[in-house]
Amino acid sequence: MSITPSPYGFARYLGRDENHDTLAARNTRLSRGQVIAVEIKRSEQNGSFQRFHVPYEPRMRVLDALNWISENEAPDLAYRWICGSKMCGTCGVRMNGREVLACWEAVEPEMKIEPLRNLPVLRDLVVDRTPFEKKVASFEPWIERRKNYTEFPEALTHKEMKDAAKALDCIGCMCCYSACPVIRLGAVTDFAGPAPLVQLGQTALDPRNDPAKIKRSLTQTGIFNCVSCYKCEEVCPAHIPIVSQVIEPLKTKTARLLPHLAKHSLALRAVVAARGRVDPTALLLRVQGLRVLAKIPRALRLLVRGKIDPIKTFIRVKTAAYAAAHRILSKGPELE
Ligand code: SF4
Ligand code: SF4
Ligand code: FES
Repeated sequence: MSITPSPYGFARYLGRDENHDTLAARNTRLSRGQVIAVEIKRSEQNGSFQRFHVPYEPRMRVLDALNWISENEAPDLAYRWICGSKMCGTCGVRMNGREVLACWEAVEPEMKIEPLRNLPVLRDLVVDRTPFEKKVASFEPWIERRKNYTEFPEALTHKEMKDAAKALDCIGCMCCYSACPVIRLGAVTDFAGPAPLVQLGQTALDPRNDPAKIKRSLTQTGIFNCVSCYKCEEVCPAHIPIVSQVIEPLKTKTARLLPHLAKHSLALRAVVAARGRVDPTALLLRVQGLRVLAKIPRALRLLVRGKIDPIKTFIRVKTAAYAAAHRILSKGPELE
């Protein structure tokens, strides 16, 4: 899909840039009456794909194609939508392998449409949002104030609210949750996932919230399982900087309020600050302490393969990056 420069410059306004992009796609790639091939995953047919041929109409969205199919060829097709205008977050699906909002995405000449991943499928394209809703409810998504209002409206600076304000753009579409590879691992981790974390960010990153309450919520996030792969950000239709402005600030808050949960990250930061490099042996010793003795056979295997170098660790070899790494990384109060 070619991206035409936005008439609004490079500023990101919700809806404007992508509307321009999809209009450009519609105008250049398809003409009225051209037949679009649509394959839809049908749970009623043991998860196989059913093929439909839909006549293109100008400004056609994925949702319009689904409506046409439901009205003309498959009245039993199950899909979900409410607002039709990128507000309610109910119409998320996977189209040609990526998460999109059906009501916002322009049709493609050939489309393979599936339900979102990482959530149980109720029927066809409809997924069960209960795991997400339960997780969000367990975070107690409200603000418990420590001080009463001093004035109304309350004076809050942009700096104080910048992260929470980004999270407030979330429409709960679950596209990010479907794209997250760590959620895909299932019960291997206790990671809450990007969508619940963005919901948590709305209150946990608000400076008026009580830290004791934030601590209670953060304990349940498994946030350090996030591998910062940015897959969630790539698909977010609201353009929320999920990793840089929600997950990273929440990780920082967790490291301050609950340092025992951030042991590995803090140890890594301390090692890099002290040596200007990642030193696997020093990292292992900091995280595992004397428990490392139980893993001597494994350590020997790593030594043979050249993965660790205890001599460099014990004489504390530093790299040329040490001064810069120390200056940048030793500032945080949470550093060991
Ligand atoms: S950055 Fe974290 S939350 Fe986002 S997709 Fe990757 S692992 Fe999941
Ligand atoms: S963060 Fe973005 S992708 Fe995730 S639920 Fe909210 S709006 Fe959807
Ligand atoms: S139908 Fe509401 S966001 Fe798509």
